[in-house]
Amino acid sequence: MPAERSTELSMQKNSKQYERLLSLVFKHIPLVLICVLVACKGNQNNNDKQEKTSPDTIQRVTEPSALSAGLLAGKKVYEDYCLTCHQSNGGGVPSLNPPLKGTEYVLGEKDRLIGIVLKGSNEGLEIDGETFDNAMPPHNFLSDDEVAQVLSYIRNSFGNEADTITVQEVKAVRAKVK
Ligand code: HEC
Repeated sequence: MPAERSTELSMQKNSKQYERLLSLVFKHIPLVLICVLVACKGNQNNNDKQEKTSPDTIQRVTEPSALSAGLLAGKKVYEDYCLTCHQSNGGGVPSLNPPLKGTEYVLGEKDRLIGIVLKGSNEGLEIDGETFDNAMPPHNFLSDDEVAQVLSYIRNSFGNEADTITVQEVKAVRAKVK
C-alpha cells in the first residue's frame, strides 16, 4: 500500500533529522559551556567594579544632604501645609497665590517672613507688579520647630539661597505677634 509506505518513509526521514540535530547539539556542548562560563566571569568583574566605585558615590550623595537633613523635615511641613497653594516648585498659581521663588518676602527680612506664616496675609502683596486674590490663612498652629524648618526649606529651595531660620527667631516673633 503506497500510502503506508510513504508515512513510514517520512518517519524514517524525521528520525534521521532528529539524530542529526542531537549530534549537532552534543558536538557543541563544550562551546556552550565555555560561553556560559565567560558570561558569568564577565558579570563577576562588573560586580567587582561596582563595589569599588560605590563608596565614593555614597559619599558624594551624602555630603550635601548633611546640610539638608533639617531641610528634609521642612519639605514635609511644606508638602502638608503650603504646597496646595504655592505648588511643589514654589511657582504659585497666577493671580491666586504668589510664587516663593526669588521673592523679597522669602529672601529678605526674617521677622516679616516669620510674621506672614504665623499671622497669614490678606494685604494684597505685590510681586513683580502682580497681586493675588487668595488670602493666606494664619499658620500659628505650627510649632516653632516646624515654622523654622519650613522657612529654612523655602529659603533654600526653588533656586533660592539664603541662611536658615532658627527656632529662637521664630519664638521671638511669636512672642511679639501674640
Ligand atoms: C490657602 C492658600 C495658601 C496656603 C495654604 C499658604 N499660602 Fe502663603 N500665600 C498665599 C497667598 C494668597 C499669599 C499672598 C497674600 C497677600 O496677598 O496678602 C501668600 C503669601 C505668602 C508669602 C509672601 C509672598 C511671597 O510669595 O513671597 C510667603 C513667604 C508664603 N505665603 C509662605 C507660605 C508658607 C511657608 C506656607 C505653608 C506654611 C503657606 N504660605 C501656605 C496663599 C497660601
